[in-house]
Amino acid sequence: MQPLTPESAATTLLEAGNRPPATVRSDVVEELDTLLSKHLSTCPDAVEKAAVQYSREHYARMTGLLPDEMVRRLHEETTMLTAANTRRIDIRVTVTGNTPRPGSLPNSLFASHSTLFTALYHVPAFRGLLSDIAGAPVFDCIYPDEQITGTHQTQVGDTRGWHWGDHEFAWIFISEAPAPEHGGLLQCVPHTPWNKQDPAVNRCLTQGQIRTYHHESGESYFFKTDTTLHRTMPIQTEGITRSIVNLTYSGVSDLLSEKTDETTDAVSLD
Ligand SMILES: [Fe+2]
Repeated sequence: MQPLTPESAATTLLEAGNRPPATVRSDVVEELDTLLSKHLSTCPDAVEKAAVQYSREHYARMTGLLPDEMVRRLHEETTMLTAANTRRIDIRVTVTGNTPRPGSLPNSLFASHSTLFTALYHVPAFRGLLSDIAGAPVFDCIYPDEQITGTHQTQVGDTRGWHWGDHEFAWIFISEAPAPEHGGLLQCVPHTPWNKQDPAVNRCLTQGQIRTYHHESGESYFFKTDTTLHRTMPIQTEGITRSIVNLTYSGVSDLLSEKTDETTDAVSLD
């Protein structure tokens, strides 16, 4: 047996942190890996630009980093998924200060109906891209039920109020988004640690700069959710749809700390 070195320990940890379940199609993982690797080799400057933005804002717009063919297929799969099982959850999540939560697409929907998102989650080139942007290792989310989820907003007032993520990272695919005047914009206040005993959302809002982002359909972004207070603005217009898919990942600190799971537990009480 080889002696354990820091390098081999790190490699072992990274491999252990990307373990596709048996249900994930390995042929699709390989196909997407080839497609993405080829595309990324053509745009090294865009990866660096995203990493610079992430280091400043704990948010990186990833438009252009995914090949058009992949974006088109992810959009098609999202449309299929929302049609298959859109459900609405009108609950309030106490741990983030009673902020409202819109209709959601649960992990079980992806487990039973998704081919692309379940594969993409484990694609080595994609995981490497996220790590390059964050400048830190990116692991499978330690709670499988939170790895892949979605949101499908269709009614005026639908929103996701100010909250933090339970895990360090999230990659968000915007399958369908309204124009800025119809709402649904992302707002973030980076560098705001979450005190679960006293979320004090309004106080946090006074202590940092709110950045507002609009995304076109087909765009995606990667951000640090555990120390970024964030929300989506309410849908303001009748007949508007906003649908997104959220891939959640853990960082080293998530692996080392005792995590509570209040947000997902509350949402599953429907
Ligand atoms: Fe969030």
